[in-house]
Amino acid sequence: MKTIKEIDISGKRVFIRVDVNVPMDKFQNITDDNRIKAILPTVQYALDHHAKVILSSHLGRPKGKVVSEMSLSPVAKRLGRYLNKSVKMAPDCVGSEVEALVGQMMPGDIILLENLRFHQGEQDNDETFAAELARLCDVYINDAFAVCHRRNASVEAITRFVPVCGAGFLLQNELSYFKKALDNPARPLVAIVGGAKISSKLTALENMLNQVDKFIVGGAMANTFLKSMGIDVGKSRTEDDLVMTAGNLMKKATDKGVKFYVPVDAVVAGSQNPDADIKIVPVQEVPDGSMIMDIGPATSLLFEEVLADAKTIVWNGPMGVFEEEPFSKGTLAMARTVAESSALSIVGGGDTDVAIHKAGESDRITYISTGGGAFLALLEGKPLPGVAALDKVNMRGN
Ligand code: 3PG
Repeated sequence: MKTIKEIDISGKRVFIRVDVNVPMDKFQNITDDNRIKAILPTVQYALDHHAKVILSSHLGRPKGKVVSEMSLSPVAKRLGRYLNKSVKMAPDCVGSEVEALVGQMMPGDIILLENLRFHQGEQDNDETFAAELARLCDVYINDAFAVCHRRNASVEAITRFVPVCGAGFLLQNELSYFKKALDNPARPLVAIVGGAKISSKLTALENMLNQVDKFIVGGAMANTFLKSMGIDVGKSRTEDDLVMTAGNLMKKATDKGVKFYVPVDAVVAGSQNPDADIKIVPVQEVPDGSMIMDIGPATSLLFEEVLADAKTIVWNGPMGVFEEEPFSKGTLAMARTVAESSALSIVGGGDTDVAIHKAGESDRITYISTGGGAFLALLEGKPLPGVAALDKVNMRGN
């Protein structure tokens, strides 16, 4: 696929699909602007090359309705601060008023269109809506890795209507780090998978079995693996319908010679309340009324040893309920271990990103993906519709 550097954008109306779906508090204050910082190289490049920059994104899930709390205007202000330039906020993302605003733009101007998902056509991948978006521009750039797994109009259908399409620097970077980590990795390649549910990561786990040398499993999903080993995990969260699947997965790993590691001890509590009494116990000794909330210190040490010879690390999902201080130590220790490793380390998934920042280790990780679902889709070995669309444009010769 073509990249922005290979396209003549000077004086052109350049539509850049970004993903600035950032978290906000109830007063619409942005609480984490990493996704805004991540698009700056592409946006600055387009401005420096005298493009008329039309940015567009979704925010939240307004389901085709205008929801004022999901307006992108706080993003326009934050972007303006980073670019040291005013970013005009459009009242909508399509329609005659927006077309008129774009018509008045000069090279080096920048405008942010209003939330794409205020229109149902966006998530329906509707061609009429896509054609309306396409009318605004001469060049389409996708720099929205985090939404590339969605078959949305501004990600997929629009590429059928804009003559020249390409990828921005963020999308390029995400794909090339991922390729480095999984296509031809330096070995041993270790995957660390955590989070609440096996069900949401089952396909990724199965796909990665074919690529990795070692698997580390933590978080609540590890409980189901422990249960499949005949361990009584008390009141801990498990997915009982997947106990057999978990057992089979471990067996497959053994058959393939992939080392599979689960927690050996755990932080347990009677409830998720941070004030609840906590105890550290071997996983075989979880008291009846208790729940596993985090990996224990012996597990952290074990996982550190497992990672000691890693040359490539891919991490998705926390080791425990790290949002609560008493249950955060396992995830924070993992962040430090990955940061201290000399391996190429790629981390993805919203929660994992938050945990790395909380641990103050974001500078020592090789690459932190902006994608949650998109990162998982790559781990599952699935093609991303947004990327496939750009490849298709390239094949048709533009
Ligand atoms: C994300 O936050 O993962 C992306 O912005 C996609 O959002 P969605 O899950 O609402 O499609």
